Amino acid sequence: MEEEFKVTPWEVSGEIDYERLMQNFGTTPIDEALLRRLGGYGELHPMLKRGIFYCHRDMNQLLDRFDRGERFFLYTGRGPSGNTHLGHLMPWIFAKWLQDTFKVPLLFQMTDDEKFLFKDLSLDETRRLSYDNALDFVALGFDPDSTEIILDTENIRSLYPIALKVAKKVTFSTAKAVFGFDNSANIGAIFFTTIQAAPAFLPTEQSGVQTPCLIPCGIDQDPHFRVARDVAPGLDYPKPAMLYCKMFPGLGGGDKMSSSDPMSTIYTTDGPKDVRKKVGRAFTGGCVTVEEQREKGGNPEVCAIFKYNYYLFEEDDGKINDLAGRCKRGEVLCGECKAALTDKINLFLEGHQARREQAREVVDGMTFEGFEW
Ligand code: TRP
Repeated sequence: MEEEFKVTPWEVSGEIDYERLMQNFGTTPIDEALLRRLGGYGELHPMLKRGIFYCHRDMNQLLDRFDRGERFFLYTGRGPSGNTHLGHLMPWIFAKWLQDTFKVPLLFQMTDDEKFLFKDLSLDETRRLSYDNALDFVALGFDPDSTEIILDTENIRSLYPIALKVAKKVTFSTAKAVFGFDNSANIGAIFFTTIQAAPAFLPTEQSGVQTPCLIPCGIDQDPHFRVARDVAPGLDYPKPAMLYCKMFPGLGGGDKMSSSDPMSTIYTTDGPKDVRKKVGRAFTGGCVTVEEQREKGGNPEVCAIFKYNYYLFEEDDGKINDLAGRCKRGEVLCGECKAALTDKINLFLEGHQARREQAREVVDGMTFEGFEW
């Protein structure tokens, strides 16, 4: 059957059926038992309780090893193709929760090479964007003593030996099957997955001891890590465990916030007026007239405003349920909801933008030296 949605590391389109995606990719649902287990390490993050992080690979094995005293490290990243938007922050905020909960180191990869290869951007541009995007990452307050940022073109010496070992195990036909490359793909694009795999194996390579890795990220990145996991045993590297989230929704009602439509995207550098304007134009689950909405109520399930609250801006379960109830009963109108969300986003951005400025010094002084494992 023809799929009506597409999810690859380079393209997300259509209405995503997350259950089917999980089956297609062969990931495992995060079920009640796993949630209970995770809840044993600290209070569950709302993104887990709400099924935003919704499937995984090998989490139980990772936790078994952790319980036996084997520390893991976290690895996630960013492809610097434009300004950072709220959707990018979502998995990073979750990664910070993981770091705080398990007290583990974190590697953050900036793939300036990837965005040069896959987009119409110069290397100078993707490097500049890396610096800019790193400010947003640092602004989230990761523990500086146990967090490292890798910029691919800068830190390639650490990555390259691993990338080569991975490359030798991955055939062209696998790359074509997994990523859909055809004969027009540039050969850098075909090689790139080895560079994204490399940080997952870096601590093992550096320390000479198998070091477990956990990668929290968007489900669109799974193709890379399927390949990485497949080759790991043959290279004496541990298979990374994965925690996958859904895509952060766009304000236009679509399944993914995308930089290609700036009006449906809130950037971390947007001012209060931009936010008011964008939220004001958002797609809601409301009725055409006030009378109709008072009578029939709205539909939070399709509403971008509600989704923003659910994904990021209302962590209190009581309040989010109350909001859904009042919307369905027609007790709250879209205008009020938009105004309330605008205030919440602006409050968040005000703090974030201040921390982002403070981050300049940190990012300027950053050089990747590897961790002590
Ligand atoms: N390819 C990712 C992107 O386009 C960036 C990335 C690199 C990444 N390494 C990662 C994302 C590890 C998640 C986990 O955004």
